[in-house]
Amino acid sequence: MQRDGATVSLWQYNIPDYETKHTTLPAALFDVIIAGGGITGITTALLLQKSGKNCLLLESNTLGFGTTGGTTAHLNTLLDTPYNTIAKDFGEKNAQLVAKAAQDALNLISNNISTYNIKCEYQTQAAYLFSQNSQQDKELDEMFRATAHAGVQVSYVNEIPIPISFTKAFKAEGQGKFHPIEYLFALAKQFEEAGGTVLQHCRVTNWHDDENVTVETTLGKVEGRKLIFATHIPPGVSVLHLRCAPYRSYAIAVELNDENYPDHLTYDLYNPYHYYRTQEVMGKKYFIAGGEDHKTGHVENTEACFLKLEAYVRKYFNVKEMAFKWSSQYYEPADGLPYIGHMPGSQKGNIYAATGFSGNGMTWSHVAALVLCDMLTGVPSPYEELFSPGRIKPVAGFTAFVKENVDVAKEFVKGFFTRDKIESLSDLAHGEGKVANYEGEKIALYKDENGQLHAVSPVCRHLKCHVAWNIAEQSWDCPCHGARYNYNGKVITGPASTNLEQINIE
Ligand code: FES
Repeated sequence: MQRDGATVSLWQYNIPDYETKHTTLPAALFDVIIAGGGITGITTALLLQKSGKNCLLLESNTLGFGTTGGTTAHLNTLLDTPYNTIAKDFGEKNAQLVAKAAQDALNLISNNISTYNIKCEYQTQAAYLFSQNSQQDKELDEMFRATAHAGVQVSYVNEIPIPISFTKAFKAEGQGKFHPIEYLFALAKQFEEAGGTVLQHCRVTNWHDDENVTVETTLGKVEGRKLIFATHIPPGVSVLHLRCAPYRSYAIAVELNDENYPDHLTYDLYNPYHYYRTQEVMGKKYFIAGGEDHKTGHVENTEACFLKLEAYVRKYFNVKEMAFKWSSQYYEPADGLPYIGHMPGSQKGNIYAATGFSGNGMTWSHVAALVLCDMLTGVPSPYEELFSPGRIKPVAGFTAFVKENVDVAKEFVKGFFTRDKIESLSDLAHGEGKVANYEGEKIALYKDENGQLHAVSPVCRHLKCHVAWNIAEQSWDCPCHGARYNYNGKVITGPASTNLEQINIE
């Protein structure tokens, strides 16, 4: 199956693209149109369809093309934003509400798997968090107290599942793992069998929020009573683009020489942290490790991130073979919690969005599905207010987060960080991409392995920042809000919805 990068994730291995019978837009008024065929969109669509809503799901590429195809699929109630931070910023009651929402999400996953008899290597497991110095010990103790207080079952332990020395550790029960694409495709099939419509290769390019919502797409117009953006970050221009910052994370799946594949999920306390787990795919075990996260478009040599991660893993594990390596994108929210609900600025209130899932996309996607399904079927949701995209939460660091993003955006608009001068087009090596000044023009140049040059404008079609070359994924990545384009300028992921401008270098 296809994914939003040049590397191949473990989940793509031996899996063809999802096939759906629809290739044209049906002429109908839908109750709900969902943009985005990842785990958030599909789970939401299925819940709504089963609740009696007639739904249309539009995917700009193929199902699972985005981060669902690049996740490492940890199913957690132990979240990236620690419960002590949530309690400090939102209050202890809300920390408990967050833990309950995360547990509801894991219950929904488990129910889906048993109700629809989904074969996706699902397993409940414990998650281990460990510290390695006195400063981290302090952090770990604070996290332990707040996690327990929030209602997650935790206990201190003297052993962890991986051969890395540690000073303190605790484990959280009731976490899990699965094969995200097998799960996703099974849910999509259930959605279609329940009467829902899936259309792939159909990108939403514009929309008008009136009595009904008119949605413009690359395949024409369609109408719905409501529109949900489950596109990782919504397209267009929204305050959500200031409140979420795009990050890349790196993962490798390796075979080990011994049979010491660790059970359970494990995390250290570095920033960025490393995360570990094992997955069996088609009878073969793989040890998956991840980390080396950085802001999208802010690292010049993304291949080096894989090398660092591999070296770190080889230090502690008896690696036989690197089987897969891939990177993926996520959005960090300004105040640590996701944004789920009415899209800010939606004139008639018919547009909804879900974004800012940090590294917990599997959990938050299901919380989003539950919240959105309640909101659209008129059922009061206990979580609606807490996760509302319209919340104004002056938490510590919020203003600094937004200001930093604006300042960085300003520099990137000017092309300050990414501009090199090249004298001649032959200065570029095969396989190299660069934003450069050439004869007074700024151009994004890529020379492929055959020496063929591809030139596009570096100006991102979302809000005009300058893209940077991601050598590992062979893509032009926008550092401002995370839009990504292939070597030839074709948009891969939003919030941009049009291609980079082609430049004729003849
Ligand atoms: Fe917003 Fe590029 S993604 S300017």
